[in-house]
Amino acid sequence: MSETKKTLVNAMNGKASRRSVLKAAAAVGVAAPFAAGMLQGGIQSAAAGEDGLAALDLSGLNLSKDYDGQEISVILGADGPAVAWEEALVAKFTEATGIKVNVVRGPESATERLAQYQQLLGAQATDVDAMMIDVIWPGILAPHALDLTAAMDANGQYFERIVANNTVDGTLVGIPWYTDAGLLYWRSDLVEKYGLGQPETWADLEAAAKTIMEGERAENPDFQGFVWQGAAYEGLTCDALEWQVSNGGGHIIEPDGTVSINNPSAIDAFNRAKSWVGTISPEGVTTYKEEDARGVWQDGNAAFMRNWPYAWSLAQADDSVIKGKVGVGLLPKGDGPDAQNAATLGGWQMMASKYSEHPEAAIEFCRFLTSEPVQRAHAIDWSRLPTIEALYDDAAVLEAQPFFGELKPVFLGGAVPRPSTVSADLYNDVSTAYFTAVNEIITGQADAAERVAALETELKDIMAEL
Ligand code: GLC
Repeated sequence: MSETKKTLVNAMNGKASRRSVLKAAAAVGVAAPFAAGMLQGGIQSAAAGEDGLAALDLSGLNLSKDYDGQEISVILGADGPAVAWEEALVAKFTEATGIKVNVVRGPESATERLAQYQQLLGAQATDVDAMMIDVIWPGILAPHALDLTAAMDANGQYFERIVANNTVDGTLVGIPWYTDAGLLYWRSDLVEKYGLGQPETWADLEAAAKTIMEGERAENPDFQGFVWQGAAYEGLTCDALEWQVSNGGGHIIEPDGTVSINNPSAIDAFNRAKSWVGTISPEGVTTYKEEDARGVWQDGNAAFMRNWPYAWSLAQADDSVIKGKVGVGLLPKGDGPDAQNAATLGGWQMMASKYSEHPEAAIEFCRFLTSEPVQRAHAIDWSRLPTIEALYDDAAVLEAQPFFGELKPVFLGGAVPRPSTVSADLYNDVSTAYFTAVNEIITGQADAAERVAALETELKDIMAEL
């Protein structure tokens, strides 16, 4: 080990002076604030290129062995690149507790996933013990959830905003696992090649996407300007909310219950998105979910992409054709007077089912998955945003994911929530009405102004049922 690295490791073990740490950190390119983080303690392993899962330290969690031999089923993410990692993580839980975990894969679409959960929970099925739930669902799933207040890792300072979001009538329906915020990804190599910068407005993005696309198509006829999520499902609600908020078009339903959708800035924002289809974006974008967009992007066939933070780690993987050629930052603003950058707030929590026959084991699993050490590994290996603030100052996390530091204000509270608190158990009706209307607009089946007026009536009717 080099002297420099030794000093950093000593720092993490509390054995080096502040001065020597900052010097050593500078020598390996760790910025001073991150190095200072190492001095605050709590960081247990080497900073440079750390493997989050290998470094996972569960010793502080005191996982219980009382449920040794029990078997639980847990619904986690869709089938995808993270499966092997999750299986290895779950094996560590089994090793520590003796609880056998059968991991069930859920649908990629949040909309389909909710339908599946409602069917299972509505039937009071005992064969699923715990599941990951979307940040917009606590109000819908609360009747089926065990209270997890006592299980939330007392060592972690979880984001209060998300804990409040997940608390329904005093019950903690889900422990925050990771949060999400919509981001713009761009091909830094191509932005540079064409003498462009990071787009600040949607008009900038359109112009840049067009320039790069036209240039690249000379050699690659499949090349696209901008890919995003346009299918009629929850993901489109997220993208479309960003378009309208960034254009000063309100939040669909405001926190006081006012249905605010029918306004010119929102209508303009939808018309703008419609103009992308078949120009800078493929016709097929109106059927895309996250992984469809990322597939085009990851193959090196798009200049810009809207997606969640997970796409960063995958782009930077050793076998990625776009490794080292990717920039990430805020989504653009619109052009009106109230224009602003907007990122929809997403994210997932762990819920334990009220119908579980092994509630203690299920709760222990939720506690494990959402704990600080697991969130740290998830952040390092998969660029999943932690829900524990201290991890945004963790040197190894920041080294793996430098954009966590840059975008910290967005991740720590600046992201825009969907109107799920105000619509409570009717949120899915609200979102379905919204994404259906927006999808009809962007596919050219409906005129934006007329369709938004009809949507306003639909949303008012839904809210009247509350
Ligand atoms: C991401 C977000 C989630 C959102 C979903 C939509 O998984 O974390 O909140 O509902 O995308 O596709």
